[in-house]
Amino acid sequence: MSDHLIWSGCDTVRLAHEYGTPLYVMDESMMRRRCRRLAEAVKGRNARICYAGKAFLNIAMAKLVCEEGLGLDTVSEGELYLAHLAGFPMERVTLHGNAKTESFLSAGLEWGAGTVVVDSEDELKRLESLCALRGKRQTILIRVSPGIEAHTHKAIQTAQKDCKFGVPLAHLERAVKYALASEWLDLAGLHVHVGSQIHDTEAHFAAVSRMTQLLCELRGSLGFEARELDLGGGFGIPSLPGEAETPAEEFVSQILDRVDSSCEALGLRRPEVVFEPGRWIAGEAGITLYTVQSVKEIPGVRTYVAVDGGMTDNPRPQLYQAQYVVKLANDTTRPATKRAAIAGPCCESGDLLTADTPVPELHVGDVLAVPLTGAYNYSMFSTYNCALRPAVIFAQDGSARVAVRRQTLEDLARGQE
Ligand SMILES: Cc1ncc(COP(=O)(O)O)c(C=O)c1O
Repeated sequence: MSDHLIWSGCDTVRLAHEYGTPLYVMDESMMRRRCRRLAEAVKGRNARICYAGKAFLNIAMAKLVCEEGLGLDTVSEGELYLAHLAGFPMERVTLHGNAKTESFLSAGLEWGAGTVVVDSEDELKRLESLCALRGKRQTILIRVSPGIEAHTHKAIQTAQKDCKFGVPLAHLERAVKYALASEWLDLAGLHVHVGSQIHDTEAHFAAVSRMTQLLCELRGSLGFEARELDLGGGFGIPSLPGEAETPAEEFVSQILDRVDSSCEALGLRRPEVVFEPGRWIAGEAGITLYTVQSVKEIPGVRTYVAVDGGMTDNPRPQLYQAQYVVKLANDTTRPATKRAAIAGPCCESGDLLTADTPVPELHVGDVLAVPLTGAYNYSMFSTYNCALRPAVIFAQDGSARVAVRRQTLEDLARGQE
């Protein structure tokens, strides 16, 4: 019996040796199960699920999401292009973002994206002109920033009053009036996203109250009846292995109950509800593998274990003070007897995956696995210090396939003189 770490039936050490490290390994079965659990939770409830591609997107992932029947949120021309290459049905695609470029909006219109979530009054006007130019009417939602502070890190709160996202409440009626008067814009409803990595329903419940109240006011002042209410994503995953899983499908069901009761209390026609989960679908499914390059003990201070990746493939410790633990993939039986910092190779003292974590005796060549790295890791990759983007492996019940191949030095130099 091997003492290697197994992920979705695959030997992680074999994967590390075959494909090199750092290496993202995604449990494909887990991601598919999570898509299905959420799809099941909204079945028959006039609601749908749109996967938020920003969490983790490549062509293989777009195909997976498509096969599971979900919609797809894209937030850049690049994400939209990958969806296009994957053959994703464009009527199930949404365009997001607070600073959409003309080429992103144009590509969305050309390819027939189902919905554009408009983030500002300027965007309303720019989109309208682009639609008029093409003689195309576009379905839109207007994103609102309703002043809700979710229980999460400040950097991933996205609906508070002082926020770069969405139309400010003070100007919402004016924006809705503009959209309703436009022959090129088909206003389906409103959008809100309260934040990310949230483990309770409080902020989503507050969003339901606020948004249904707003819909009621807009019906009164402008006679506008929404067909859609998009409540964004945000369902969290454990911060450390062993913590309880967030029951996102229960949350979805409870939030839908709230929408039903709020609409009933206000006498509103119940709009279709959209959820945009990203992290909950991809986060727990991913581990990242690294190879130990050196072990340096500073007597009486700290032991630094240097590995071949860090803030370039996972900037979350620097952005959100995210905590990680490591597992020794090539010997899961070696007991953790000491503590160490796991350091990346970048020229920054802060390039630490963790500053202090229990570890076994470690040596050069050991393979470490960092769990809970499926979301906002690969998608946040940077080329600092000319790092090469790691490969992405989809593992499923003992078989593995390359979803994204490792970047080569030739890839890195492409386009440079
Ligand atoms: C508009 C919008 N929708 C959905 C999401 C996905 O959030 P999560 O991955 O936390 O579910 C985000 C994340 O930032 C977002 O900005």
